[in-house]
Amino acid sequence: MPVRPLIPAAEIEQAVQELGRRISRDYAGQPLTILGVLTGSIMLVADLMRRIECPHKLGLIQASSYRGTATTAGRLTLDLESLPDLEGRHVLVVDDIFDTGRTLEGVVERLRDSGALSVRTAVLLWKRARTQAALRPDYVAFEIPDVFVVGYGLDFNDEYRHLPDIGEWQPDA
Ligand code: IMP
Ligand code: MG
Repeated sequence: MPVRPLIPAAEIEQAVQELGRRISRDYAGQPLTILGVLTGSIMLVADLMRRIECPHKLGLIQASSYRGTATTAGRLTLDLESLPDLEGRHVLVVDDIFDTGRTLEGVVERLRDSGALSVRTAVLLWKRARTQAALRPDYVAFEIPDVFVVGYGLDFNDEYRHLPDIGEWQPDA
């Protein structure tokens, strides 16, 4: 398979556990809603929720701006139809990766009038060198170099999401 190992499942599990610990501490006693960005965040959301000890609600939104390996992010489209009521709640937007940052910046911008008490972001991966947005992610499990990665929810052409490890996509391998 044209995928070079980068972060093994055991390391992901540990990092998600640590992320859960920090979030549990920071939001203890507060009304928290996790807002997962589909589709790439499904694994992280499912694992992270089980590591957050304080009670919380879950919402999911569809965002798409990316096609295949294209390095320039396309136009961001957000489907907020199924957005839950966020009035009076602290919102933590969870996505798989912070690349240019435009997706999460767009989501946060759209939540400005939602009545949320606060809006923060959590990602598994951050390609810091590619950041173009003014926004910075609040919770990050791993910083990675500027390589295209798949696995643990992340896809290439909608495939490879099922891989338990995260690997670097190698088109020529
Ligand atoms: P951003 O808006 O540039 O931060 O891009 C965020 C979205 O692009 C993520 O939610 C991913 O779906 C996708 N993306 C960015 N980098 C990668 C990658 O290396 N592998 C797979 N998807 C990626
Ligand atoms: Mg995504």
